[in-house]
Amino acid sequence: MSLKELLPEVGSGVKPQSPQTDPVTTTDRMVHNPAAVSFHDTLAGTWEEEYKSEAFGQRLAVIAELAPRKLHGQRWMDAGSGTGTISRWLAAERGASVVAIDGSRNMIAHATCADRVEYRVGDIVSTGLPDESFDGIVCSSVLEYLLSPESALKEFRRLLKPGGLLLVSVPNGALSVRLPLKLIYWLTRPLGKRRRVAYLDHSKHSYSTTQLEGTLSRGGFAVERMVKYGRFVLPFGIPASRSGILIMALTRKA
Ligand SMILES: C[S@@+](CC[C@H](N)C(=O)[O-])C[C@H]1O[C@@H](n2cnc3c(N)ncnc32)[C@H](O)[C@@H]1O
Repeated sequence: MSLKELLPEVGSGVKPQSPQTDPVTTTDRMVHNPAAVSFHDTLAGTWEEEYKSEAFGQRLAVIAELAPRKLHGQRWMDAGSGTGTISRWLAAERGASVVAIDGSRNMIAHATCADRVEYRVGDIVSTGLPDESFDGIVCSSVLEYLLSPESALKEFRRLLKPGGLLLVSVPNGALSVRLPLKLIYWLTRPLGKRRRVAYLDHSKHSYSTTQLEGTLSRGGFAVERMVKYGRFVLPFGIPASRSGILIMALTRKA
């Protein structure tokens, strides 16, 4: 069942169904980075469909490679869950209980109900959840949209139990990756709604592996593994760069 039936329209002022979720009248008032969340509101209707593409499918493949095989009895958070594809995967394939939280009411409205997955509309920078309430957190393609990624890392550290895991994915900032993407962004910008790489309007942070390791370490996380992955494909299947456009890090609360 889609949550659309359970969640009221944005602006209706009606409480969402989840008993733990505060009422959210407009996301603009409550999240750390309202413009980026509003942008994702507009993508919600087709987000799930994107996971059928190779580019999105790779997210799950890399999480499958890095996440522990068995998470039965563990509580995880999917921070910036979108429509909850990763949450449902963690629950169905690894046995975790998952809290999927996203600032975009529309993303949550397009999620589907699943066993052991609880959805919330909320801000990952300030969740209001208790200290040390999670064994693990996954945060895929979200930090780059925040005004302060460090503030999310601080919240994740607070939420994780000692030794808890954080699986985090961010854009690869290597020039050979970033430059072609930025070029396509600027060249197609005059096309308005038909422009490519439109997410660069809001995605403001990218990292080399060294920068990511430094940011995570300053945030109190020890990196165990890093994987570069993801391709951006131009028309006629031409890859925009040879290296992965994203970096996924498996880290542990130090
Ligand atoms: C690129 S999408 C990634 C969605 C999902 N993690 C995935 O990999 O499919 C980024 C998501 O982060 C959410 N987001 C951005 N800032 C947020 C915040 N401060 N609190 C909660 N969610 C946020 C957006 O609404 C959007 O759904």
